[in-house]
Amino acid sequence: MSKRKPIKTAVFPVAGLGTRFLPATKAIPKELLPIIDRPLIQYAVDEAREAGIEQMVFVTGRGKTAIVENFDIAFELETTMAERGKDLSVLEATRFTPGNLITVRQQVPLGLGHAIWCARAIVGDDPFAILLPDELMIGQPGCIRQMVEAYEEVGGNLISVLEVPREEVSSYGVIDPGESVGVLTEVRGLVEKPPVDQAPSNKIISGRYILQPEVMRTLEGQGKGAGGEIQLTDAMARMIGTQPFHAVTFHGKRYDCGSKTGFVEATLALALEREDMGAEIRRIAERLLRG
Ligand code: G1P
Repeated sequence: MSKRKPIKTAVFPVAGLGTRFLPATKAIPKELLPIIDRPLIQYAVDEAREAGIEQMVFVTGRGKTAIVENFDIAFELETTMAERGKDLSVLEATRFTPGNLITVRQQVPLGLGHAIWCARAIVGDDPFAILLPDELMIGQPGCIRQMVEAYEEVGGNLISVLEVPREEVSSYGVIDPGESVGVLTEVRGLVEKPPVDQAPSNKIISGRYILQPEVMRTLEGQGKGAGGEIQLTDAMARMIGTQPFHAVTFHGKRYDCGSKTGFVEATLALALEREDMGAEIRRIAERLLRG
Protein backbone atom coordinates (compact mmCIF):
# COMPACT_ATOMS: atom_id res chain seq x y z
CA MET A 1 0.00 0.00 0.00
CA SER A 2 1.24 3.41 -0.94
CA LYS A 3 1.46 5.90 1.91
CA ARG A 4 0.80 8.82 -0.45
CA LYS A 5 -2.58 10.45 -0.87
CA PRO A 6 -3.75 9.22 -4.30
CA ILE A 7 -4.09 11.68 -7.18
CA LYS A 8 -7.81 11.70 -7.96
CA THR A 9 -8.31 15.16 -9.47
CA ALA A 10 -6.91 16.73 -12.63
CA VAL A 11 -7.23 20.36 -13.65
CA PHE A 12 -7.33 21.26 -17.35
CA PRO A 13 -6.89 24.95 -18.11
CA VAL A 14 -9.03 25.45 -21.24
CA ALA A 15 -9.89 29.14 -21.11
CA GLY A 16 -7.15 30.26 -23.55
CA LEU A 17 -8.21 32.28 -26.58
CA GLY A 18 -6.39 30.14 -29.16
CA THR A 19 -5.40 33.16 -31.25
CA ARG A 20 -2.61 31.25 -32.99
CA PHE A 21 -5.16 29.13 -34.84
CA LEU A 22 -7.53 31.89 -36.01
CA PRO A 23 -9.80 31.87 -37.90
CA ALA A 24 -10.22 28.13 -37.14
CA THR A 25 -10.72 28.87 -33.45
CA LYS A 26 -13.12 31.79 -33.79
CA ALA A 27 -16.18 29.64 -33.03
CA ILE A 28 -14.50 26.36 -32.00
CA PRO A 29 -12.37 26.06 -28.85
CA LYS A 30 -8.79 25.13 -29.76
CA GLU A 31 -9.05 22.17 -27.37
CA LEU A 32 -11.63 20.64 -29.73
CA LEU A 33 -9.40 20.78 -32.79
CA PRO A 34 -8.96 17.13 -33.72
CA ILE A 35 -5.80 15.17 -34.26
CA ILE A 36 -7.38 12.87 -36.87
CA ASP A 37 -10.65 11.97 -35.11
CA ARG A 38 -10.08 12.78 -31.44
CA PRO A 39 -10.20 16.33 -30.07
CA LEU A 40 -7.04 17.44 -28.26
CA ILE A 41 -8.90 17.60 -24.94
CA GLN A 42 -9.91 13.95 -25.34
CA TYR A 43 -6.26 12.85 -25.50
CA ALA A 44 -5.58 14.71 -22.24
CA VAL A 45 -8.67 13.30 -20.47
CA ASP A 46 -7.76 9.77 -21.61
CA GLU A 47 -4.21 10.27 -20.32
CA ALA A 48 -5.54 11.32 -16.91
CA ARG A 49 -7.95 8.38 -16.74
CA GLU A 50 -5.16 5.95 -17.54
CA ALA A 51 -3.40 7.24 -14.40
CA GLY A 52 -6.44 6.45 -12.22
CA ILE A 53 -7.68 10.05 -12.05
CA GLU A 54 -11.46 10.25 -11.73
CA GLN A 55 -12.43 13.88 -11.26
CA MET A 56 -11.72 16.29 -14.12
CA VAL A 57 -11.89 20.03 -13.57
CA PHE A 58 -12.07 22.25 -16.65
CA VAL A 59 -11.15 25.89 -16.12
CA THR A 60 -13.20 27.42 -18.92
CA GLY A 61 -14.10 30.83 -20.25
CA ARG A 62 -16.60 32.38 -22.63
CA GLY A 63 -17.08 30.54 -25.91
CA LYS A 64 -15.85 27.24 -24.47
CA THR A 65 -19.12 25.46 -23.70
CA ALA A 66 -18.63 23.07 -26.64
CA ILE A 67 -15.85 21.40 -24.61
CA VAL A 68 -18.37 20.43 -21.94
CA GLU A 69 -20.91 19.37 -24.59
CA ASN A 70 -18.27 17.03 -25.96
CA PHE A 71 -18.44 15.04 -22.71
CA ASP A 72 -22.24 15.03 -22.41
CA ILE A 73 -24.79 12.72 -24.01
CA ALA A 74 -25.63 13.84 -27.58
CA PHE A 75 -29.24 12.70 -27.34
CA GLU A 76 -30.43 13.28 -30.91
CA LEU A 77 -27.22 12.01 -32.49
CA GLU A 78 -27.12 8.90 -30.34
CA THR A 79 -30.82 8.08 -30.77
CA THR A 80 -30.52 8.43 -34.54
CA MET A 81 -27.36 6.34 -34.64
CA ALA A 82 -28.99 3.64 -32.49
CA GLU A 83 -32.08 3.57 -34.74
CA ARG A 84 -29.83 3.08 -37.74
CA GLY A 85 -27.92 0.29 -36.03
CA LYS A 86 -24.66 2.27 -35.90
CA ASP A 87 -21.89 1.43 -33.45
CA LEU A 88 -21.94 3.84 -30.50
CA SER A 89 -18.68 2.59 -29.02
CA VAL A 90 -16.77 5.42 -30.77
CA LEU A 91 -18.36 7.72 -28.17
CA GLU A 92 -17.27 5.61 -25.19
CA ALA A 93 -14.35 7.89 -24.24
CA THR A 94 -16.68 10.90 -24.07
CA ARG A 95 -18.73 9.36 -21.22
CA PHE A 96 -18.32 10.62 -17.69
CA THR A 97 -19.57 9.22 -14.42
CA PRO A 98 -22.14 11.80 -13.28
CA GLY A 99 -20.49 14.37 -11.03
CA ASN A 100 -16.96 13.70 -12.22
CA LEU A 101 -16.80 16.58 -14.67
CA ILE A 102 -16.61 19.95 -13.00
CA THR A 103 -16.21 23.33 -14.63
CA VAL A 104 -15.06 26.55 -13.07
CA ARG A 105 -14.93 29.83 -14.88
CA GLN A 106 -11.92 32.06 -15.37
CA GLN A 107 -13.60 35.32 -16.34
CA VAL A 108 -10.44 37.16 -17.42
CA PRO A 109 -7.35 35.45 -18.95
CA LEU A 110 -4.79 36.58 -16.38
CA GLY A 111 -2.36 33.69 -16.88
CA LEU A 112 -1.89 29.97 -16.23
CA GLY A 113 -1.29 30.51 -12.50
CA HIS A 114 -4.55 32.41 -12.18
CA ALA A 115 -6.42 29.71 -14.15
CA ILE A 116 -5.20 27.02 -11.75
CA TRP A 117 -6.06 29.15 -8.72
CA CYS A 118 -9.65 29.37 -10.04
CA ALA A 119 -9.95 25.63 -9.24
CA ARG A 120 -8.90 26.00 -5.57
CA ALA A 121 -12.32 25.21 -4.05
CA ILE A 122 -12.54 21.93 -5.98
CA VAL A 123 -8.95 20.88 -5.31
CA GLY A 124 -9.33 21.46 -1.56
CA ASP A 125 -6.63 19.81 0.56
CA ASP A 126 -5.53 17.06 -1.82
CA PRO A 127 -2.61 16.80 -4.22
CA PHE A 128 -3.76 17.10 -7.82
CA ALA A 129 -2.59 16.89 -11.43
CA ILE A 130 -2.56 19.55 -14.13
CA LEU A 131 -2.58 18.75 -17.83
CA LEU A 132 -2.17 21.40 -20.53
CA PRO A 133 -4.07 19.96 -23.50
CA ASP A 134 -1.89 21.85 -26.05
CA GLU A 135 0.92 19.51 -25.19
CA LEU A 136 0.12 16.14 -26.69
CA MET A 137 2.11 13.51 -24.82
CA ILE A 138 2.11 10.03 -26.28
CA GLY A 139 3.77 7.36 -24.14
CA GLN A 140 3.26 3.86 -22.86
CA PRO A 141 2.24 4.36 -20.17
CA GLY A 142 1.15 7.97 -20.65
CA CYS A 143 2.96 10.91 -19.13
CA ILE A 144 0.74 11.43 -16.08
CA ARG A 145 0.85 7.71 -15.30
CA GLN A 146 4.66 7.83 -15.43
CA MET A 147 4.51 10.77 -13.05
CA VAL A 148 2.04 9.10 -10.67
CA GLU A 149 4.45 6.15 -10.45
CA ALA A 150 7.28 8.54 -9.56
CA TYR A 151 5.00 10.37 -7.10
CA GLU A 152 4.32 7.13 -5.26
CA GLU A 153 8.08 6.90 -4.70
CA VAL A 154 9.01 10.46 -3.74
CA GLY A 155 5.77 12.38 -3.08
CA GLY A 156 5.83 16.16 -3.04
CA ASN A 157 5.62 18.11 -6.27
CA LEU A 158 6.52 16.82 -9.72
CA ILE A 159 6.75 18.36 -13.15
CA SER A 160 7.42 16.59 -16.44
CA VAL A 161 10.44 17.85 -18.32
CA LEU A 162 12.11 17.28 -21.63
CA GLU A 163 15.12 18.74 -23.41
CA VAL A 164 14.75 21.20 -26.28
CA PRO A 165 17.38 22.97 -28.42
CA ARG A 166 18.81 25.85 -26.38
CA GLU A 167 17.43 28.55 -28.72
CA GLU A 168 13.85 27.42 -27.94
CA VAL A 169 13.95 27.71 -24.14
CA SER A 170 12.50 31.21 -23.97
CA SER A 171 9.05 29.90 -24.98
CA TYR A 172 8.82 27.71 -21.87
CA GLY A 173 9.29 27.28 -18.15
CA VAL A 174 12.87 26.10 -17.54
CA ILE A 175 14.31 24.17 -14.59
CA ASP A 176 17.55 24.61 -12.73
CA PRO A 177 18.41 20.91 -12.34
CA GLY A 178 20.08 19.36 -9.31
CA GLU A 179 21.01 15.72 -8.86
CA SER A 180 19.43 13.05 -11.06
CA VAL A 181 18.58 9.48 -10.09
CA GLY A 182 16.88 7.44 -12.81
CA VAL A 183 14.04 9.47 -14.31
CA LEU A 184 13.96 11.85 -11.34
CA THR A 185 15.88 15.12 -11.17
CA GLU A 186 15.84 17.40 -8.20
CA VAL A 187 14.50 20.86 -9.08
CA ARG A 188 16.59 23.68 -7.57
CA GLY A 189 14.91 26.53 -9.34
CA LEU A 190 12.35 27.40 -12.00
CA VAL A 191 12.12 30.31 -14.36
CA GLU A 192 9.37 31.18 -16.82
CA LYS A 193 10.38 32.12 -20.36
CA PRO A 194 13.96 33.23 -19.63
CA PRO A 195 16.14 34.89 -22.28
CA VAL A 196 18.30 32.16 -23.88
CA ASP A 197 21.52 33.41 -22.26
CA GLN A 198 19.97 33.41 -18.78
CA ALA A 199 18.29 29.99 -18.94
CA PRO A 200 19.58 27.63 -16.21
CA SER A 201 19.30 24.60 -18.56
CA ASN A 202 17.56 23.37 -21.70
CA LYS A 203 15.13 21.21 -19.68
CA ILE A 204 11.65 22.65 -20.12
CA ILE A 205 8.37 22.09 -18.31
CA SER A 206 6.25 20.13 -20.75
CA GLY A 207 2.74 20.79 -19.46
CA ARG A 208 2.18 18.05 -16.87
CA TYR A 209 2.27 18.65 -13.13
CA ILE A 210 1.48 16.88 -9.86
CA LEU A 211 1.26 19.51 -7.16
CA GLN A 212 0.51 19.75 -3.49
CA PRO A 213 -2.54 21.87 -2.55
CA GLU A 214 -0.31 24.49 -0.88
CA VAL A 215 0.37 25.84 -4.37
CA MET A 216 -3.09 27.42 -4.22
CA ARG A 217 -2.11 29.51 -1.21
CA THR A 218 1.14 30.45 -2.91
CA LEU A 219 -0.78 31.51 -6.03
CA GLU A 220 -3.03 33.67 -3.86
CA GLY A 221 -0.39 36.34 -3.49
CA GLN A 222 1.39 35.75 -6.79
CA GLY A 223 2.09 38.94 -8.75
CA LYS A 224 2.45 39.19 -12.50
CA GLY A 225 5.47 37.60 -14.14
CA ALA A 226 6.64 36.90 -17.68
CA GLY A 227 4.36 38.45 -20.30
CA GLY A 228 2.47 40.38 -17.59
CA GLU A 229 0.67 37.15 -16.57
CA ILE A 230 0.25 35.39 -13.23
CA GLN A 231 2.56 32.46 -13.81
CA LEU A 232 2.25 29.00 -12.25
CA THR A 233 6.01 28.61 -12.66
CA ASP A 234 6.66 31.59 -10.35
CA ALA A 235 4.41 30.15 -7.62
CA MET A 236 6.08 26.73 -7.92
CA ALA A 237 9.51 28.39 -7.72
CA ARG A 238 8.51 29.89 -4.37
CA MET A 239 7.59 26.45 -3.02
CA ILE A 240 11.04 24.96 -3.70
CA GLY A 241 12.80 24.41 -0.39
CA THR A 242 9.57 24.18 1.58
CA GLN A 243 8.48 20.93 -0.10
CA PRO A 244 10.17 18.22 -2.21
CA PHE A 245 10.26 19.20 -5.90
CA HIS A 246 11.30 16.85 -8.68
CA ALA A 247 11.30 16.75 -12.45
CA VAL A 248 10.34 13.54 -14.23
CA THR A 249 11.96 12.94 -17.61
CA PHE A 250 9.11 11.80 -19.82
CA HIS A 251 9.68 8.69 -21.91
CA GLY A 252 7.58 9.02 -25.01
CA LYS A 253 6.82 11.51 -27.72
CA ARG A 254 5.64 15.05 -27.26
CA TYR A 255 3.96 17.26 -29.83
CA ASP A 256 3.49 20.99 -29.26
CA CYS A 257 -0.05 21.31 -30.59
CA GLY A 258 -0.15 24.96 -29.55
CA SER A 259 1.88 25.64 -32.71
CA LYS A 260 0.68 24.98 -36.26
CA THR A 261 3.74 22.99 -37.27
CA GLY A 262 3.53 20.89 -34.11
CA PHE A 263 -0.13 20.25 -34.80
CA VAL A 264 0.56 19.07 -38.35
CA GLU A 265 3.47 16.94 -37.10
CA ALA A 266 1.20 15.28 -34.52
CA THR A 267 -1.47 14.59 -37.11
CA LEU A 268 1.02 13.02 -39.50
CA ALA A 269 2.86 11.02 -36.82
CA LEU A 270 -0.30 9.58 -35.29
CA ALA A 271 -1.82 8.83 -38.69
CA LEU A 272 1.34 6.93 -39.71
CA GLU A 273 1.07 4.82 -36.57
CA ARG A 274 -2.59 3.91 -37.01
CA GLU A 275 -3.45 0.41 -38.10
CA ASP A 276 -6.47 1.53 -40.10
CA MET A 277 -4.67 4.13 -42.20
CA GLY A 278 -0.90 4.08 -41.54
CA ALA A 279 0.12 2.27 -44.74
CA GLU A 280 -2.06 4.47 -46.93
CA ILE A 281 -0.86 7.70 -45.29
CA ARG A 282 2.75 6.57 -45.82
CA ARG A 283 2.08 6.08 -49.54
CA ILE A 284 0.38 9.48 -49.74
CA ALA A 285 3.21 11.22 -47.85
CA GLU A 286 5.86 9.61 -50.05
CA ARG A 287 3.99 10.64 -53.19
CA LEU A 288 3.62 14.23 -51.95
CA LEU A 289 7.32 14.42 -51.03
CA ARG A 290 8.37 13.20 -54.49
CA GLY A 291 6.50 16.29 -55.75
C1 G1P B 1 3.00 27.16 -20.22
C2 G1P B 1 3.85 27.21 -18.96
C3 G1P B 1 5.30 26.87 -19.29
C4 G1P B 1 5.38 25.53 -19.98
C5 G1P B 1 4.47 25.52 -21.23
C6 G1P B 1 4.41 24.15 -21.85
O1 G1P B 1 3.38 28.21 -21.07
O2 G1P B 1 3.76 28.51 -18.39
O3 G1P B 1 6.06 26.85 -18.10
O4 G1P B 1 6.72 25.23 -20.34
O5 G1P B 1 3.13 25.91 -20.89
O6 G1P B 1 3.71 24.20 -23.05
P1 G1P B 1 2.43 28.73 -22.29
O7 G1P B 1 2.61 27.74 -23.39
O8 G1P B 1 1.04 28.76 -21.76
O9 G1P B 1 2.95 30.07 -22.66
